[in-house]
Amino acid sequence: MGVKNMSLILGFLGSVFLQGLLVCTAYNVHNYSFIVKNTFFERLCSNKTMLTVNGGFPGPSIHVRKGDRAYVNVHNEASYGVTIHWHGVKQPRNPWSDGPENITQCPIKPGKNFTYEVIFSDEEGTLWWHAHSDWTRATVHGAIVILPEANTTYPFPEPAAEQVLILGEWYKGDVKEIIDNATATGGDPTVSDAYTINGQPGFPNNCSNDTSYKLTVEYGKTYLLRLVNAVMNEEMFFGIAKHNFTVVAHDGAYIKPVTTSYIMITPGQTMDILLTANQSPSHYYIAATPFLDSNAPFDSTNTSAILQYTGNYTLPSSIPYPTLPNVTDRDAADNFTTRIRSLASAEHPINVPKNITTQIFIAVSVNQILCANASCGGPNGNRLAASLNNISFVTPSIDILQAYYRSLTGVFGSDFPSQPPYIFNFTGDVGNNTLYPSQGTKARLINYGEAVEIVFQGTNVQTAENHPMHLHGFSFYLVGTGYGNFNATSSPSTYNLNDPPEVNTFGVPKNGWATIRFFANNPGVWFMHCHLERHASWGMDTVLIVKNGTTAETSILPPPTNLPTCS
Ligand code: C2O
Ligand code: CU
Repeated sequence: MGVKNMSLILGFLGSVFLQGLLVCTAYNVHNYSFIVKNTFFERLCSNKTMLTVNGGFPGPSIHVRKGDRAYVNVHNEASYGVTIHWHGVKQPRNPWSDGPENITQCPIKPGKNFTYEVIFSDEEGTLWWHAHSDWTRATVHGAIVILPEANTTYPFPEPAAEQVLILGEWYKGDVKEIIDNATATGGDPTVSDAYTINGQPGFPNNCSNDTSYKLTVEYGKTYLLRLVNAVMNEEMFFGIAKHNFTVVAHDGAYIKPVTTSYIMITPGQTMDILLTANQSPSHYYIAATPFLDSNAPFDSTNTSAILQYTGNYTLPSSIPYPTLPNVTDRDAADNFTTRIRSLASAEHPINVPKNITTQIFIAVSVNQILCANASCGGPNGNRLAASLNNISFVTPSIDILQAYYRSLTGVFGSDFPSQPPYIFNFTGDVGNNTLYPSQGTKARLINYGEAVEIVFQGTNVQTAENHPMHLHGFSFYLVGTGYGNFNATSSPSTYNLNDPPEVNTFGVPKNGWATIRFFANNPGVWFMHCHLERHASWGMDTVLIVKNGTTAETSILPPPTNLPTCS
């Protein structure tokens, strides 16, 4: 699988060499080579070339054990700049290798390469990597498999085998053209033409029956499925005909087992699923369908793969297809999501901040930017936009990390507000309140070690929708969610501080709120944004900068020498 395991000694020496400081724990080092290049594909009876890593859609999986380190040399053979992000990997003290374009680095230019140092710490289970430049992540992504540390095991019975399942999309058009056109007009980007499971649309999509992804299982055995939602703009329901299964990990952390007939997974999230092949040997469809509770345009198609048992049997005249919730079934989505709980065991303890020292309240909105003479392609001839606390994020042309580290002025402001600038009935009849945001590049500085709480308040401005918010550099506890306006007195009384899920991406409910907590123990520049790509493109982003602590061990690592240059 392209994994190169070196000795523990080499890992140790590698660390000494690359960081110039001693570390006391040994870990394994893995080296990967990623070539970003144009590759020819045929799907849905049409064909195109698109960017991939090493020619694969999805791209290669990275395999490590908990606490290991991966060096990934990314060579860019595309005609424009790209970066790669290691979604959910905390990268302690190492924002330099986090990847978001013009936030922590400038892009790797065509013909150039950059070696990312991906530092794993307490993550375990499944995460993923993806391009973090424009919409390149539609085709440039893959899984990160994090096995238990050597001589330890899973907190569940050892599976017979495991398989990565990546939910993705097929766009007949060129994805870069789609977002460039949408940005030029200010209107909604074209939706995808099909969803995919491991790169294949499957039944019932055009010209896709024979190429469906097939998962082969043996009756009586239990398999670990590592599910990634790499879709750009839609949350997804997922299920397997006639089989219940058990979710055992989420976003790179183990959870209390949840046995279910379907799941809902947002873009950015990952789930580890145990599936026991306990039905009559046959074929069964594995399927995914969108969940979207707004009137935004979306891809309404289904994708499927086939679960095929080994052995001799006669196939039924029609292969069973799972019954998944309706596209707008918010209750079905919530009924699954609210079952997720941290393991919170002796081996997997939790550390939820109880005494909050930094409190931030963020209103999350879709907006409009006025266009002269109503000349844009969005609603009322305006441009579609999105904001956090009424600021629509503008991506700078020099990366914020460099500007912060070298004290360059004029790149970003450090005055991202801790409260919405204007308080109104966020989830009711909002009228024109905050429909038109301001635009700017603003970050929120946080002192090292603070106990941080952030309340995200969804709003009814322009289009109310569920927003899967994602923060780089951390996992954090989702201590509460609710519908309507957050109430500072009654809402906190519903918090779960005993076993809240530890996540990196979570849904802010449509016209509702969600609260997260974490300790600011990772100095760096960390992007925070909606993982619906069109919202991120429209400005639903900001940056948290966690300042250095008082010691070298609590400060940002020095920059690598071969960082891509800006301009
Ligand atoms: Cu998976 Cu900033 O993203
Ligand atoms: Cu969003």
